Amino acid sequence: MKLWTGRTEGKVNRLADDFNSSIRFDKRMYRQDIEGSISHAVMLGTKNIISEEEAEMIVAGLQGILADIENGVLEIDETAEDIHMFVETVLTERIGDIGKKLHTARSRNDQVALDMRMYLREETDTLIEKLRKLLGVLCDKAEREKATVLPGYTHLQRAQPVTFGHHLMAYAMMFLRDIDRLRDGRKRMNVSPIGSCALAGTTYETDRFGEGERLGFDAVCQNSMDGVSDRDFCVEFLAACSLIMTHLSRFSEEIILWASWEFKFVEIGDEFTTGSSIMPQKKNADMAELVRGKTGRVYGDLMGMLTVLKGLPLAYNKDMQEDKEGVFDTVDTVRMCLDVFTPMLAGITVRRDNMEKAAKGGFINATDLADYLVKKGLPFRSAYKISGETVRDCIAKGCALDELSLADYKKHSDLIEEDVYEAIALQTCVQKRKSFGGTSVESVERQIAFVKNAIIQ
Ligand code: ARG
Repeated sequence: MKLWTGRTEGKVNRLADDFNSSIRFDKRMYRQDIEGSISHAVMLGTKNIISEEEAEMIVAGLQGILADIENGVLEIDETAEDIHMFVETVLTERIGDIGKKLHTARSRNDQVALDMRMYLREETDTLIEKLRKLLGVLCDKAEREKATVLPGYTHLQRAQPVTFGHHLMAYAMMFLRDIDRLRDGRKRMNVSPIGSCALAGTTYETDRFGEGERLGFDAVCQNSMDGVSDRDFCVEFLAACSLIMTHLSRFSEEIILWASWEFKFVEIGDEFTTGSSIMPQKKNADMAELVRGKTGRVYGDLMGMLTVLKGLPLAYNKDMQEDKEGVFDTVDTVRMCLDVFTPMLAGITVRRDNMEKAAKGGFINATDLADYLVKKGLPFRSAYKISGETVRDCIAKGCALDELSLADYKKHSDLIEEDVYEAIALQTCVQKRKSFGGTSVESVERQIAFVKNAIIQ
């Protein structure tokens, strides 16, 4: 029977009832729901809205329900309307009419808002932990590859040599910002809506501050209508997750490219690849492809959430029940992606030889040749032109810049001496880029230290 029978007989059409019910998905918040109710019962008791004994009975009843769900004695009944109704029904079954007092000075509207904030707060912390692990792997790999040279690309054309450590640390900076974004969103998430009641607050003398504080909230929301209507914290969480996925997806795309026969820059560990059912030679980067592919559903969840909210009048509307599946799907997706991506990255073998080979072709030291001429006194534009002409000459001769003879160099500029070879050597190109944030070993070491320091805090 519906707990809200009264105004109607509560006899809902079976299809409508299924349509309306959310227990299939909101049951995952059973713990938060029960913890929230415990704090509520304590508040009701302390404020003498119910007696201390009644509060104690309710608390004990709720603790029993939590323990029983957790050890599998109590199964969540999926015919209940939602997790809030389920817990309250079981409580009343177990402790009798006193259980019916729990819902004093509260509504499901503030209750569900509370549960969502508590649930997402934990998930935010979990994601931060997973990102920290990923950053640990990135720092280790970057440390090992801080002097490995590969081509850096722009427009997917070989541009300038970089160290692989530098390339990896670029991703570390993205994931570090992701942690920062999650932490920032968590501040606004960690504000308690409980006590907003249906929308207008309550006539009882409640203690919203104590109730929220017991649940670990930093503050309580200032306006009860906002308290029950606000889902900004879901949008912010989904947006932060969308960016995490953007970063994972770009990284995946590069790993897929690098693992191809064309690049052969890395080899993915066998346990993170799959074979083909027909082509015996295949070793596919399915995990990276799936991470890239799953990015779409997280973006979709963000768009879905924004769209649910955009036309809603204040305060609570049932549309808001639609906040959950998208948020839960995003939580599951990002968790899974990080759980697979991190060990996959840790197990990647770097083919330094192929990276270096690729860096040697493609005239990626042409900028350094121009810089060499600038140091000999030419203005950069003139030096740029001479370097370009030299590259054209090399292409015609079918050789690399460091293979061109000094005599041929002299045809382009008599400022060029024997020391040009040293100046355009790949190691020199990389080592000389000591500018702050540049690709040199020193700079990569500084970046690693920066990230390590940021993640221990
Ligand atoms: N299952 C509902 C939700 O997820 C709980 C709140 C119901 N409130 C109400 N006034 N019907 O939003």
